[in-house]
Amino acid sequence: MSRYIKYLKCSRCGKVYAYEEKPVTCVNNDLGRLDIYYDYEALKEFYTRDYVSTRERRDQWRFFDLLPPENPDNIVSLGEGGTPLLRSERLAEVLGVRRLWLKDETRNPTGSFKDRGMSVSVSVAKEFGYRNLTTASSGNAAAALAAYAAKAGMNVYAFVIEQAGYGKIAQLLFYGANVFRVRGLGKEDPTVKLMRLTYEEYGFFPSPSFGPFNPYQIEGPKTISYEVVEQLGWNVPDYVFVPVGAASLLTGVWKGFRDYCELGLIDRLPHLVAVQSSGNPPFVRAFKEGQDPHNIRPWSKPETIAWGLEDPYPWDGDGGIKALKDSGGFAEEVSDELILKAMKYLAKYEGVFAEPSGAAGLAGLMQALNSGEVRPDEEFVILVTGHGLKDPDIVKEVEGDAPTINPDLREFQAVLRDKYGVSSLE
Ligand SMILES: Cc1ncc(COP(=O)(O)O)c(C=O)c1O
Ligand SMILES: [Zn+2]
Repeated sequence: MSRYIKYLKCSRCGKVYAYEEKPVTCVNNDLGRLDIYYDYEALKEFYTRDYVSTRERRDQWRFFDLLPPENPDNIVSLGEGGTPLLRSERLAEVLGVRRLWLKDETRNPTGSFKDRGMSVSVSVAKEFGYRNLTTASSGNAAAALAAYAAKAGMNVYAFVIEQAGYGKIAQLLFYGANVFRVRGLGKEDPTVKLMRLTYEEYGFFPSPSFGPFNPYQIEGPKTISYEVVEQLGWNVPDYVFVPVGAASLLTGVWKGFRDYCELGLIDRLPHLVAVQSSGNPPFVRAFKEGQDPHNIRPWSKPETIAWGLEDPYPWDGDGGIKALKDSGGFAEEVSDELILKAMKYLAKYEGVFAEPSGAAGLAGLMQALNSGEVRPDEEFVILVTGHGLKDPDIVKEVEGDAPTINPDLREFQAVLRDKYGVSSLE
């Protein structure tokens, strides 16, 4: 008998599984996600605000009651989660809003929110007795997986998109993963193809950061919502802006808020806003055009600086669309220029260095404020999902390099004026 997991249920065919069966994908091969259902009645007996607040651990495992694995000895952790919710002051002023919060997920062990899900996934893999893990990723999820697998002494076979930034590749190589850049990003994601071939052929544990191939990792991102609620003094913001690739993060974040509602810890829910780049907006289009959530049209030529959001097919699009609908939220398609501007604003006004995918949420808010979809007096939380050091070449393309000078004050002043526009040192 599981602790608090009642069962898992396929999001497509409805087939029900017990956790003890060690399910990973649906046996009907329908690409459904095996959503995990918890025993809220049993949890309600003790899971109060006080109980949560007094947990000793500060990382995401303080929410162990609402996470797999079953046995705490199987937890593989590097201290993920427990990230700060930073109150924005300077940026808030620039944008003309009063209550703006940044959930700084760049602080996770490998520099992105993916650590939360991969910690859960590797813990479950350990509980299920796997030694070999396979993944498909734009880079961050694979880097996270490789770190946790290293900690657990497992092998990783990682298939990443050809364009993945070297920061992510560097992480993967040193964490000891067998990593491959895979050619041919188009209709069928070539990284997913290889992941599927390797788990079907060799029986590896699939551990990408999307649901149809691994239902456990999605439980990680939901802890972001648990933390936000607590960090706001058990309050719920009006809006949460979420960058979207596969829509696993969006699905997980909504699950987190729903969990807390079911448990009676909060009595309202936020509106969620999904943000994608106009260089790869299949999820936004699907939502706006009312496409069948189980049959979203893939984007044939993803092309954006936000590589983390470059999934041509949002594997958890059904969960994401439900999140937007049920929360009364909406979807934004933003330009790469606006993403770059958001990235710069985060760094310049708040000291938070995000990669483009990590800054997309803020770009979404900037656009929504401009178009009047949200009002400046509302309360906003932006998920800043990945670190800028993952891909510093992007900055080089925009800003160039720092000037090299001789140790000479005159030269310093001249270059200061020409390069940085500073002519007075008063
Ligand atoms: C930094 C960053 N932000 C956001 C996302 C989007 O998450 P999801 O694919 O779950 O929609 C990703 C996915 O790779 C990412 O790397
Ligand atoms: Zn199924």
